[in-house]
Order: sequence, then structure tokens, then C-alpha cells
Amino acid sequence: MKITDSILWVGVHDHAIDLFEGQYAVPNGMSYNSYVILDEKCAVMDTVDARFAGEWLEKASAALGDREPDYLIIQHVEPDHSGSILRFLEKYPKVTLAATSKAFPMLKNFYGVDPEARVELKADTVLALGSRSLHFIPAPMVHWPEVTLTYDDRDRVLFSADAFGKFGAWDTEEPWTDEARRYYIGIVGKFGAPVQALLKKAAGLDIAAVCPLHGPVLKEDLGTYLALYDVWSAYRPEEKGVLIAYTSVYGHTRAAAELLKDRLAAKGQKVRLMDLARSDPAEAVAEAFRYDRLVLASTSYNGGVFPRMRQFAEELAEHGFQNRKVGIVENGSWAPCAAKTLREKLEGCKNLTWAEPQVTIRSALDRDSREALEALAASLAE
Ligand code: FEO
Repeated sequence: MKITDSILWVGVHDHAIDLFEGQYAVPNGMSYNSYVILDEKCAVMDTVDARFAGEWLEKASAALGDREPDYLIIQHVEPDHSGSILRFLEKYPKVTLAATSKAFPMLKNFYGVDPEARVELKADTVLALGSRSLHFIPAPMVHWPEVTLTYDDRDRVLFSADAFGKFGAWDTEEPWTDEARRYYIGIVGKFGAPVQALLKKAAGLDIAAVCPLHGPVLKEDLGTYLALYDVWSAYRPEEKGVLIAYTSVYGHTRAAAELLKDRLAAKGQKVRLMDLARSDPAEAVAEAFRYDRLVLASTSYNGGVFPRMRQFAEELAEHGFQNRKVGIVENGSWAPCAAKTLREKLEGCKNLTWAEPQVTIRSALDRDSREALEALAASLAE
């Protein structure tokens, strides 16, 4: 597939995968993108997951025709992109491998690849291919240390590694934002500062198209995608709204969550209710990052908090959750302790404002807890 007259997409769509990176549900599969640049010299941008080596190699070879590739550029060593490197080197043993200094030891460790013909990519490296040159933007910790992005100065294409990728094979049509958010927050979310640094560097480039390693090639409305990445990586809320995330054993905490939702909706607030035991964990985390307010409603359990809620709070903290207003509703029949546990889990999160009152339910809703929920709704809607 042509991206420009001399850049071809040679990636693959994976509809067999159940869990991406061993944990993320991908109901619409995944794409592993790879590109061939044809000029006086030819470059192949990344490989694909090893399970698709044959299909990819056929596509890449067809794009190259009877030409030999001059460079295999490895922007990111994670095996969903480097997994077919040995098959490529078998077919094209004379190719020069181009990657950052941090990438080469990883290639040796993963595959025993330690080539003599290599170019170590740095910020000032220029690979002249003929009518164009490739420039490199090292992006350490977006989200691995060896990552680099690549800019084609003729076609004004930014090859963006994992950045601007999404869950979902792009031969299945779906909106970009929800699955890109879930992908970004889950996989890159912890690394907001390096992404901010990268966006500053990218701001100086004249970009006609973004070619990521997952998801579709982006050619229109680039400002929208860049703006979303800025919001996500700066940990700013994307929109006004309240996520009520709850766990419930016998339905009493759920009843409280639903009552709070109704009260907030009556005050004109946008609300999303999620039962953490029946929701995709990565979607729940992404939704918490999406909205400016969060309520955690949970049963006390084993001297702490219900397991699904504990995992949720830990994942929020791990991903750098911050800059939000947070309310807590706890339930406990004899020793409520969910709220204390949740506050401890989130104590490292920056700039959280606690919505008052903290609501405690003793087994089931009563007049006092209903009034407290009403007050919490008012506080959240302020
Ligand atoms: Fe798509 Fe970080 O690998």
C-alpha cells in the first residue's frame, strides 16, 4: 500500500491475538506496521512480530522488487517490531542495520544479532538516501530506552515508533481516539515527561503524515492527534466528567454508585459508571485519565479494599494519575477500611483534591449515607 509515491506500507494485521503484550484485550486485533522507502538507496523501517515473518517478508520483498535494501532501521526493539529480524537478515545479509546505541545490545540479547555493518543513530545522524535524507529523533523511554523516531525530509513523513499507535488492526474500521487513549495510557502513560520532550522536538517539524508502528497512518487533522498526546502526557483531564468506578459484592455498593450517578446527572454532570469486576481494566484506567473527576466506591475486604479496586488504584498510581478531584465511597459491615486503604494507595499521586464528604456505608444505604451521597454529588458538581 502506497503512503507516498516512494513509501510503501508492508505491515501485517493480527486478528489471532487475544492479549497484546500479555495483558491488553484487543477485540479488533493489532497491526504491526513496517514501511519500505524506495530512493537511490532503500530503507526498511522495522520488522513485525515473528508470527508474521513470512507474510511480512513477502510484502517487503515485493515492495523492493529486484533491489537490495541498504538499511534496516530498527526504531524500537520490542519484539512486536523486531521479531522478524533474523528472517530478514537471512534473506538480505548485506543490509546495514541502523539503530540507537541502546538498541544494539538488546538485539544481541534477544536474537544474537551483532552486525558489523551498522549505523548508530543519534540526534545528528543524517542518512542520505538520494532525493531525501532521514533524520532521527531519539525518544528514550517512549516507552523503552532505545526508541528513536525518524523524519523523512522530502515527503515530510514522521515515522513515530509506538507513538500515535492504537489497539485494533486498522483493517477494521473504528474511531481512533478511544483505542489510542487506552493504548497510550496503558503502555506509555507512566512516561509523560519523555513524551512531552518528544512533542517539543516534533513541534519544529513540518509533518504531512505520521506513520506509527501500530494503527493507521495519520494524514489529516494532525493537530488533533498532537493535542491529545499533549493532554495525555501532561496528565491534564481530556474532558469534564465523573468516572464512578465501583466494586460490589451483594449490590449495596452498586446501589450507592448508581444513586450518586443519578444525583450527578440531575446536576447536569456527565457520568460514566464502571463495575471494575466486569470492565476491561485498561479501559477503566484510561477513563479515569479521560475525566477530571473520579469516584472510587468499594467494599472493604480482608482488612483492606476489594481486590479489583486494589488493583485499579495501584494501576492509577503506577501510571502517574494526578491533577484530578477524587471522591471515596466505602462500604464495611463491621470494620470499614476501604477508604483508608485507597488513600494510602493514591498518596503518591500529585495534585489530587479529595471531594468531601468521604461516604461510609454500613452494609446497606440508609438515610445518613444517602444524605452523604447527596453532599458528595454537590461537592463533585461544584
Ligand atoms: Fe509496539 Fe513498544 O512495542
